[in-house]
Parts: sequence; structure tokens; C-alpha cells
Amino acid sequence: MKAILLKEFGGPEQLYLGETEKPTPASNEVLVKVKATALNRADTLQRMGKYPPPPGASQIIGLEMSGIIEAIGAEVSDWKVGDRVCALLAGGGYAEFVTIHSQCLIPMPEGFDFEKATAIPEVFLTAYQAIFYLSKLQKGESILIHAGASGVGTAAIQLAKSLGAKQIIVTASAGKHQICKDLGADFTIDYKTQNFEEEVAKITNGEGVDVIIDFLAAPYFQKNINSLNFDGRMVMLALMGGWKVEELILANILRKRLLIMGSTLRARTLDYKIGLTKDFSDYALPKFENGELQPVIDSVYEWKEVADAHRLMESNKNSGKIILKVE
Ligand SMILES: NC(=O)c1ccc[n+]([C@@H]2O[C@H](COP(=O)([O-])OP(=O)(O)OC[C@H]3O[C@@H](n4cnc5c(N)ncnc54)[C@H](OP(=O)(O)O)[C@@H]3O)[C@@H](O)[C@H]2O)c1
Repeated sequence: MKAILLKEFGGPEQLYLGETEKPTPASNEVLVKVKATALNRADTLQRMGKYPPPPGASQIIGLEMSGIIEAIGAEVSDWKVGDRVCALLAGGGYAEFVTIHSQCLIPMPEGFDFEKATAIPEVFLTAYQAIFYLSKLQKGESILIHAGASGVGTAAIQLAKSLGAKQIIVTASAGKHQICKDLGADFTIDYKTQNFEEEVAKITNGEGVDVIIDFLAAPYFQKNINSLNFDGRMVMLALMGGWKVEELILANILRKRLLIMGSTLRARTLDYKIGLTKDFSDYALPKFENGELQPVIDSVYEWKEVADAHRLMESNKNSGKIILKVE
């Protein structure tokens, strides 16, 4: 089959469209003919040799796809050949075919094309997990979502809105504020020119927010702790700003009874991913079909233009997902 492969670890120029072996589904798996895949930050790290796939996963880059079921394993009874699906993958998305456990599939929402469907799994499952499983955001609570215009951020804004969050506050570069507002953000902070801790204090009358979804880690850690309300919860999903804090005042963690959590979705067990996929599908599919939730697409590339797509992601200019059409 055709797939995007790597000459060696390095920059986007190392990616090329080549030939590799087509996978065979195990008895509980399906084989999907991939029609579209989408980029994730992890792809750029894997390309550089800094994020190896988990044991047993495909060495091919790509954490999500949409496509059509081509074949099913002997034990699979919940899907049939020809069904249109999308899914989170442990790897292998930049390829003509992938195999995946049948219970990790999400049916493509009615009316969605492959490009729109492939923009769902990684960012929405991550945001759903952070909001519903980890922080347990409640109706009427307030939330601060960093990198609001990122793929995960745009999903988190919509899920928080659908849940009935009281105040949705986001940080993003100035040019990305409107898209966050259109998705449901009540307040936008330009973290480049404004101090988000001061802005959150103003917006919440000094109380702080109930939940923070963070991707920046080190440079935001102290300000995040200071920006949480009593019984506040913070979910850390990435270390984009750095992983080491030199100095930290911990008092607010005790005084405000804070809960600080971290998670990576890729390394979760199969059972966890199956449960998450089912809970998410039950909650979100009707909302995708009635327009309450929508994947945000920044741009669509032919898969032979994969290097340009990686360059765009690394420039941080995108708002939402970068899609590759798989021909
Ligand atoms: N833990 C998990 O399970 C999990 C799952 C999926 C993704 N992630 C991680 O979550 C993060 C967001 O992923 P995504 O796909 O949503 O990203 P994305 O769409 O590429 O957006 C990232 C955005 O973050 C903002 N940003 C702020 N500070 C940044 C910095 N120091 N470096 C880079 N970007 C910065 C930029 O927007 P502005 O212009 O507004 O600054 C940038 O466009 C990534 O690090 C990804 O690896 C984690």
C-alpha cells in the first residue's frame, strides 16, 4: 500500500510518499481504506524521533483517520464492509489502509464528508476526556482554556458550552480570538500582550475559575495555580512551553484544595479507549448531526504535500485542524 514514510528522523523534508506492507486485521479488528487523516503535534515530534509509537503500534505516523471499512475480522459483528467510520489510532494514519479494534470506531456523523470526520477523533476525544472524565466540569462552573484556537482548544470550548459552563475564558493570539468567540468563548485573552492571571481575576471578580485546561505547563504553572477557584481542577495535556519549573509557591494548592492532573491519550489502555469512544460517541454524535458541535478545519492538503502541512503546524499559524486527503 502507499503511505507517508520517513527517510530518517528530522525536518518535514524527510517525509515522502512511498510503498509499504498492507496490514491484516486480527479477529477483533477491521481493515479501513483511509480517505483522510489529520495532523497532530505528536506527528511532528515522532518525525523528529522524539515520540516513539507505543509498543505494538504501527511505525507509520498518524493518530486519526476517516475512511470506509474494507474487511472485518472473524469476531467482528458490530460493523460491516462499506461502513463509513472515523477513529483515533495508536499510529499508522498516514497510509492507504489501517487496522483498528472494532470498538474503537466512531460512525461518521450523518452529512459529514471524510475531511470533516477525520477532524473529530483526536481533539474531541482529548477534550471530552479532559472535561468529562478528569476535571468533571459541572454546569454553571467557569473554565479557562489555554491555546483556545488549537485543535483541542476549539473542541474544548464547544464541549464546555454544550455542558452549560458559566464563563468560558480562552487564551490565544489576537488574530485567533474571533474563531474562539464564534465557537462559544465568552472572554478572550491575548496572552502575548496581557497577563492572563490578572485578566482571569478581573473576569471572575477575584474568585478564579473552577477548571483550567492547560498545554503550556512550566511558564503557566504558577499563574494557573493562582487563577483557580476553591476546589479548582487543572488538567495538563502538553508541555508546549517547557517542562521544568525553577521556583513555585505551593500555598494555593493546599489553601484552595486544588486538584492538578495530567494525561496522555495515546498511552491509555485499549479498554480505556473503548470506554471513552463509546461515551463520547453517545454524547457527541447527535450534537455533530444537529450542528451543536463542529470540527474546526484550518486547511486541507493532498497527502503528497505532507511536508508543507507539517511546516504550517510548526509555524503555529493554524486555527483548528490540518487535514491530509489520502488518495
Ligand atoms: N495529552 C493528550 O492526550 C493530548 C492529546 C492531543 C493533543 N495533545 C497536545 O495538545 C497540544 C495542542 O494540540 P493541538 O493539536 O490542538 O495543537 P494545534 O492545533 O497545533 O494548536 C497549538 C496552538 O497552541 C498555541 N500555542 C501557545 N503557546 C505555544 C507554544 N509555546 N508552542 C506552540 N504552540 C503554542 C498556538 O496558538 P496561538 O497562536 O494562539 O498561540 C498554536 O497554534 C499539543 O501539544 C498536543 O501534543 C495532548
